[in-house]
Amino acid sequence: MSQAIQSPTEHQSDVLIIGSGAAGLAMALRLPEHLKVIIISKAGLIGGSTPWAQGGIAAALGGPTDIEQHVEDTVKAGVQLPNREVVERVVRAGPAQIEWLESLGMRFTREQAHPDRRHLTREGGHSRRRIAHAADHTGRSLMETLVAAVHRRPNVAILEHHNAVDLITARRLGESRDACLGAYVLDIQNDRVVTVRSRHTALATGGAAKAYLFTTNPDGATGDGIAMGWRAGCRTANLEFIQFHPTCLYEPRAKSFLISEAVRGEGGLLLRPDGSRFMPDHHPDAELAPRDIVARAIDAEIKRLGIDCVYLDIRHKGREFIEKHFPMIHARCLEFGYDMTREALPVVPAAHYTCGGIMVDEHGRTDVPNLYAIGETSHTGLHGANRLASNSLLECLVFAEAAAKHLSSAPADLAPSTRVIPPWDESQVTDPDEAVVVTHNWDELRRSMWSYVGIVRTTKRLYRARDRIQLLRREIHDYYAHFRVTNNLIELRNLVEIADLIVRSALTRHESRGLHFSKDFPTINPRADHFDTVLVPPPARPYPSINDPTRPDSLQD
Ligand code: FAD
Ligand code: SIN
Repeated sequence: MSQAIQSPTEHQSDVLIIGSGAAGLAMALRLPEHLKVIIISKAGLIGGSTPWAQGGIAAALGGPTDIEQHVEDTVKAGVQLPNREVVERVVRAGPAQIEWLESLGMRFTREQAHPDRRHLTREGGHSRRRIAHAADHTGRSLMETLVAAVHRRPNVAILEHHNAVDLITARRLGESRDACLGAYVLDIQNDRVVTVRSRHTALATGGAAKAYLFTTNPDGATGDGIAMGWRAGCRTANLEFIQFHPTCLYEPRAKSFLISEAVRGEGGLLLRPDGSRFMPDHHPDAELAPRDIVARAIDAEIKRLGIDCVYLDIRHKGREFIEKHFPMIHARCLEFGYDMTREALPVVPAAHYTCGGIMVDEHGRTDVPNLYAIGETSHTGLHGANRLASNSLLECLVFAEAAAKHLSSAPADLAPSTRVIPPWDESQVTDPDEAVVVTHNWDELRRSMWSYVGIVRTTKRLYRARDRIQLLRREIHDYYAHFRVTNNLIELRNLVEIADLIVRSALTRHESRGLHFSKDFPTINPRADHFDTVLVPPPARPYPSINDPTRPDSLQD
């Protein structure tokens, strides 16, 4: 059985995995049992975006031609920007990942007439049915499977409600060679910051869509891993490509509840309020065009007609079909008074997925020795300018395995057990005085990103966002420098960093490609087919003194 640890102020492990979504848990399961693993999650063990996943896991289960087509679909959806080598490797690994999940006990939906075959659904951008799924609650089933398997591992310890504040690196402790040595982590329930030393560390913290006012993501999607990696000296790539999912329920009480793309994959149609279809006017694949195109088309219709939302209609498939294929979505919509078997659902786009992230190699290695990044936090080269539906969970699983394999065979540089790591020092800070500052800044930041860095961008709007972010950044860093850390403050500090990186990346791309559409550069620049927007962090600064590791930010302003 995996262990629940009581709360000492220092922990030691061979591998620290920050995040317990699909990527983090799969990595823990792929590691050999002689390694001591600690997984931390700022939420419960079942947190993050993974449990919310609906559509499924893309996998070329139809043989060699399917592999070729899956590669082509991924590159086409990503508008030529994906790294073909990476795409081929990930796609080829897909079928084995599905089999691995089944070996752990995951039940994918079967075909009604042939229970020995998996039912494969379809989503936008896929040229054929290729998505393995567990009805419309794939993420929940996946998490249940992975969590049950992790609980059977004696070498894995779990720290729930532990929020990583920052990575500890040799360079920031004043050494000339760099390596990640672990992390400072806020133990939320005991309200203190603990040290986790580790020979290897993996960032598996998910995406950053919470930088936007309207998002399909749960509250914790604040890009913590990207911000921590950046501060520790990792490059980021392609952060301008924030994916907006076309169809979220337009219902404030539902907090942007997703209506799966599989609804369109199974025949759902997008309608104007007068009942007319509009997607055929925008793309030959109509409702099954890639996500960036559908989201932009909806945005254009909403703005052109001055309406609040458009409608998604799947009534024609009949009650039995809908209840069988979309039981969770149907039930949730009913809670808000919408019966999708009898009426079209009101929908709008919302921020959904972070295509860019911390740059990694084929093993998930970042620029900092001993530090890996996997899952939505990372930039592997798979997605390019727009992620193909259901390729994210696939990427989580494939890179979790690759990182685990690499790490198990590689000795860690600069073993942390021999280092003096100073404990977190709160001697210079006091209790936060005005929580309203944090709440207000959260709101202002997310509104600015929604208004100025959304589905359609202009250079002027991006500069406007940049100016506001700079002001907020100073205020937030000042607050961070003077007050004890809290969960909200840690997330806000990361979110403002992410917002800044997204805007800087967007200002660097002088073309419109995939998810980045700028009215000032409305076409694709073919010379940018292999151009990733890489941002290089300033050299990680040493902590001010060995006894005061908590204030590196005040130096960076
Ligand atoms: P997550 O699952 O987001 O997990 C992040 C983990 O990190 C959590 O445990 C969190 O608590 C922890 N964490 C974060 N910051 C910290 C910190 N500072 N300290 C400690 N812990 C931290 N993709 C598909 O392929 N198919 C789908 O059908 C699909 N449907 C989706 C539906 C919805 C509504 C959403 C929101 C996303 C969907 N996606 C889908 C995308 C996919 O679910 C995510 O990209 C994927 O689950 C990310 O997994 P992850 O392990 O990288 O991160
Ligand atoms: C969905 O079910 O529409 C989400 C799929 C994804 O994000 O890949």
